[in-house]
Amino acid sequence: MTEKNQPLVVITRPIHDSAIGLLENHFAVQVHDKPNTGTFNETELMQLGCRADALITMLSDPVTEKLMAACPDLKILAQYAVGTDNIDLDAAQKRGIAVSHTPGVLTDATADFAFALLLAVSRRITRADRHVREGEFKRWEKLLFLGPGLQGKTLGIVGMGRIGRAFARRALGFGLKIIYSDANALNPSDAHILSARQVNLDELLQTSDMLSLHCPLTPETRHLLDAAAFEQIKPGCILINTARGPIVDESALVNALKSGRLAGAGLDVFENEPALHPELLQLENVVVAPHLASATVEARSAMARMCAESVIAALSGAQEIPHRLV
Ligand code: DGY
Repeated sequence: MTEKNQPLVVITRPIHDSAIGLLENHFAVQVHDKPNTGTFNETELMQLGCRADALITMLSDPVTEKLMAACPDLKILAQYAVGTDNIDLDAAQKRGIAVSHTPGVLTDATADFAFALLLAVSRRITRADRHVREGEFKRWEKLLFLGPGLQGKTLGIVGMGRIGRAFARRALGFGLKIIYSDANALNPSDAHILSARQVNLDELLQTSDMLSLHCPLTPETRHLLDAAAFEQIKPGCILINTARGPIVDESALVNALKSGRLAGAGLDVFENEPALHPELLQLENVVVAPHLASATVEARSAMARMCAESVIAALSGAQEIPHRLV
C-alpha cells in the first residue's frame, strides 16, 4: 500500500456485481473498461495498475514482467479465466506475486460449446439458418446440406484435462469412438468409462474424423497444428478449437479448409483475436464465435466469485490462497 488507507483492487473489465460487492466490503476497488476499442495494452495496464495491491485480469491483458515491475505493491494477479498464457508466470513467481485462475467452473460450459460447434459444423446449422432467412427454403430437398453423422466416427481429443474429459463424456453419448493425445494417460477408471485410447499426435491426426483441441497454449503447443500437421490430417476431418487460437497456424488452417483437406472448422478462438485471418469468413465450411465457450451465466459468475475469493485471501494474509496456480 502506498499512501492508501485500504488495499486497492484494480479490475481491468467489469465483472459480476456480486463479486465486486464482496471485494468492496474489504478493499478500495477500481473497475476499468475500454468500451468500443477493446483491450488495454501494456502501457495502459501499467498506468491503471501502478498502485494496485491486486489486479483482476482478463485473458486479453498482456501481463508482462514490465507490468509487474511497474506495480510495486502487487501481491496477487487473479485471472478471470482458466488459461493463463497471457501472464508471465515465471516473472510472477520470481517476484513473489501469487497468480490465481478459475479452473473447474467453466468446464461444462466449454465442453457444451465445443460440442455445439461440432454439431453446427457437421450438420451445417448456420448455413441452413441463413438459407431459411434468405427465403431459399422453397421445398424439402433430399440432398440439401448433407453432413457426416457422428455415430461410429473417431473423435480425436488433444489435451485430456478437465475440459477434454468433459467433451469426451458428451461424445460418448453421441456414439463417437474416442482417441486422445496427452502427455498424461487417463486414470484407468476414466479410460474405461470413456473407452478412450491414448495415441501419439501423428496417429491422432491420421485417424480422427473429428478433432477437438483442449490443451493449454504453451511454447510447446503454439502452432501444434501447422502446415505439416494439416498434411497428415485425415482427409475430410472437422476441427474444433475452443482452447486458444495460436495452437493452430491460421494460414495453414485456411489452406487446409480451401483445399478440402479439412471438411470444416468450428472456431471460438483465433490466432490474433479479435482479428481473424482475412479469408476465414469467406469460407462456407467454417462456423465462428467470439471466444464465448465459457459464456454461461453460471460459469461467468462463478469465475468472478473465484477471483474475489483469491484476492480476499491474498490481501488478508491468509496462509492458503484458493485457486492459486503460482
Ligand atoms: C478461459 O478460461 O481460459 C477461457 O478461454 C475464457 O473463457
